Amino acid sequence: MNDSELIRAARQARRHARAAFSKFKVGAALETADGTVITGCNIENATYGLTICAERVAMFKALSDGHRRFRRIVIVADTSAPTPPCGACRQILWEFGGDLEVILANLRRETGRHRLSALLPIPFDARLL
Ligand code: THU
Repeated sequence: MNDSELIRAARQARRHARAAFSKFKVGAALETADGTVITGCNIENATYGLTICAERVAMFKALSDGHRRFRRIVIVADTSAPTPPCGACRQILWEFGGDLEVILANLRRETGRHRLSALLPIPFDARLL
């Protein structure tokens, strides 16, 4: 899948977001090493704290389907400023996905592109246990 197809998949996933409280809908499309694309959207909860971001939904779906190696992830929100992954997602993406390419986009265009290692410098992970 090329970049624009992966961005389109994340935009499509965003439409399924359950964001009744924040109204801030996010979609993610995670590409595995073999080219499989697994999507996610944010899912909020009336207790707020149980909310899970689009990126973690995508990663947990992928892991539970048996995927283990990943190349990149697209994150889409309807904002002109880039929507980078939150700290919790950076940690989960790093631990299970390694140094992913992180592509940020909105409904019209790409808004940023980073290596996860640049977003999470000096990470804590299993190598330090
Ligand atoms: N959110 C994501 O799903 N991913 C991000 O990268 C940023 C934040 C969600 C969590 C919550 O449902 C809403 O956006 C507002 O924070």
